[in-house]
Amino acid sequence: MAEIDYSKRSFNYYPTNAIVFAKCIDGRWTKPEVTPDFNFSLHCFAGVFHYAPSCFEGLKAYRGVDGRVRLFRPDENAKRMQSSATYLDMPAPTMEMFIDMCVMCVQANWEHIPSYESGASLYLRPVLFGINPQLGIKSAKDVMFAVMASGVGTYSGGKSLTAVSAVMSRNYDRAATYGSGGYKLGANYAQSLHAYNLAHKMGYRELLFLDSATHSHIEEFGSSNFFGIKHGCYITPNSPSVLPSITNKSLRKVAEEFGLKVERRTIFVDELETFEEVNSCGTAVVITPISRIDDKATLESGTITREYRYSETCGPISEKLYNRIVGIQKGLEEDTYGWCMFVNDPK
Ligand SMILES: Cc1ncc(COP(=O)(O)O)c(C=O)c1O
Repeated sequence: MAEIDYSKRSFNYYPTNAIVFAKCIDGRWTKPEVTPDFNFSLHCFAGVFHYAPSCFEGLKAYRGVDGRVRLFRPDENAKRMQSSATYLDMPAPTMEMFIDMCVMCVQANWEHIPSYESGASLYLRPVLFGINPQLGIKSAKDVMFAVMASGVGTYSGGKSLTAVSAVMSRNYDRAATYGSGGYKLGANYAQSLHAYNLAHKMGYRELLFLDSATHSHIEEFGSSNFFGIKHGCYITPNSPSVLPSITNKSLRKVAEEFGLKVERRTIFVDELETFEEVNSCGTAVVITPISRIDDKATLESGTITREYRYSETCGPISEKLYNRIVGIQKGLEEDTYGWCMFVNDPK
């Protein structure tokens, strides 16, 4: 295979060798299969085409400085998928099955795991969706669970820790107050696509969503959680309609380790002015510094009501957090929390 320059890649789909899938039919799971066929054959009345009984996950396999391959907290992804499936009232893989199939997928795509030096990683996308034919509004009885992989670079396609701009408005919501925002459902992303596209067309990389009831406090970005740093505090929203990010959960631990005070609480929009450092965080974005947030009454409007400006480079505390978390993921730092799971070379 020709040498791939992973450092030029962004967060995108790039072909790999194989996917892994299993089906749950009438409550019984089939044996997971590895296949080079990337096409699913589905009944046209499958629930996923109508009522979106569909959830997914995202995690990465990292090649460490020691050449070994690690998955970062796959048990957390398994638990979150189970919680999403429970919300949708449909079957979910056990934790063991989820992790085993992730490992099978990494091993089946071994030569697509980017080198340590490239800074890239093998992104795994586990998906779970309803496949039984149905017409009435019902949860899926039968499901397909599949794990796919893509060798990805940074979210922005540029260098790590490149700061990006964000916008917020009051005329698009990501999640209802008592809705599904705290679960990783495909439907939540469908809900945000139009607004996201508008933000991108206007040149913003990120879209910051506010709470849907009052539009007065920060929820999260379209692709990631929000955290701010000020006065030695790591501050992140506490809301049931925000996706419980595994990266954010891990960063809170690391922040405590560094002696920062960790606060999970309501962050009113006005508080944006007081942060020393503002970032988005997640598996795909890792930590991405936010250099500016423009506040607009409507996303379509040309008028910016208020601007919040931050550094064009990553803040020192956020950079320290980044180095520790990436250090653990890539074997540069001791994994004192036991977060990494090693995957063996299949050969
Ligand atoms: C909306 C949203 N919030 C937060 C996150 C971050 O979650 P995690 O750190 O588990 O990847 C993601 C991406 O995965 C996301 O899509």
